[in-house]
Amino acid sequence: MIFPVFTRSDPMIVIAEAGEIARAARLLAGGGLVAFPTETVYGLGALATDAEAVARIYRAKGRPSTNPLIVHVPDVDSARALAGDGWNNVAEALAREFWPGPLTLVLPRASALAEAVTAGGPTMAVRVPDHPVARELLRACGQPIVAPSANSSGRLSPTLAEHVWADLGDRVDLILDGGPCVAGVESTVVDVTVSPPRLLRPGPISPAKLERVLGGFAVGPGTEAVSRSPGLETRHYAPRTRLETKGSATAALGRVEVVRAGGSRALWVSFGIPEADMVLPGDPAGAEQALFAALHRLDLLGLDLLVVVLPPDEPRWWAVRDRLTRASAS
Ligand code: TXA
Ligand code: MG
Repeated sequence: MIFPVFTRSDPMIVIAEAGEIARAARLLAGGGLVAFPTETVYGLGALATDAEAVARIYRAKGRPSTNPLIVHVPDVDSARALAGDGWNNVAEALAREFWPGPLTLVLPRASALAEAVTAGGPTMAVRVPDHPVARELLRACGQPIVAPSANSSGRLSPTLAEHVWADLGDRVDLILDGGPCVAGVESTVVDVTVSPPRLLRPGPISPAKLERVLGGFAVGPGTEAVSRSPGLETRHYAPRTRLETKGSATAALGRVEVVRAGGSRALWVSFGIPEADMVLPGDPAGAEQALFAALHRLDLLGLDLLVVVLPPDEPRWWAVRDRLTRASAS
């Protein structure tokens, strides 16, 4: 009888039940890195007040030190308390409507945070995630937790515990498995330190929903925000397989046969257009949920090329178009 030889004393991926969440909270309190599910994507958590733990996050991801992190808190009261005088009416209105949920607010920086959390900048990003495991972990920890998406810098965000394991492996102390993420793309980021508020990253909270609360808002990183947030710049979210996007559905699909005939192993993906090889949902929420999970699976096939027919250039599709445009940028 041959038994496998394990060198780890504990498993890396564990089902997120109460005892494991408590263990995860202790690991975080001791300066460890714990990956956990949120409603958007899996996050890589560390204590936001622990400079050494925050430094480990940047190392584990290979993340440029100029790209600030999002601080996660268990409820709106904790966010108000963290922000102190920096909290304002716009933050209050958005928090009441969308928290817990996939919205991140940029607010004036709180002094309790480790310097590297905000990449030395004057603002901080905060969110209250809407996932029972994330909220239980944050409550058990009792302190703000930074959590970038749990992937190496530039790669696809994880929507399953296994994605984190495959990408970050031993750079993480523990991965809490809470199943697939329901939203599937990262939170909508809105800067409320400026007037009008500015949408910095499109996400599951759509422009139409923001509009209903805010009236109007500006779009895209302002010149100042770009230097503060290089994570908002071009190449990002990339699979290993080369990915090209096609702008116009009709023109693009006319070429499907041509590419196949050329013998190159290309697979075409569309959102709701039946002629493609793989058809993802034709509604934004369904497409967002499926997007990274599909790219992770397709990346295992060893294809020469993925061609994605972009959905229409309409605000409700901005999150999907943004991720795909960055995934195909060189
Ligand atoms: O859904 C999410 O937000 C996930 C889950 C785990 O919560 N987290 C996430 O974190 O997407 P990350 O680090 O992958 O993306 C954070 C984004 C980056 O684009 C970063 O530049 C921006 O938020 N950001 C962080 N702090 C900022 C700040 N003070 N001002 C402007 N942008 C900021
Ligand atoms: Mg990320």
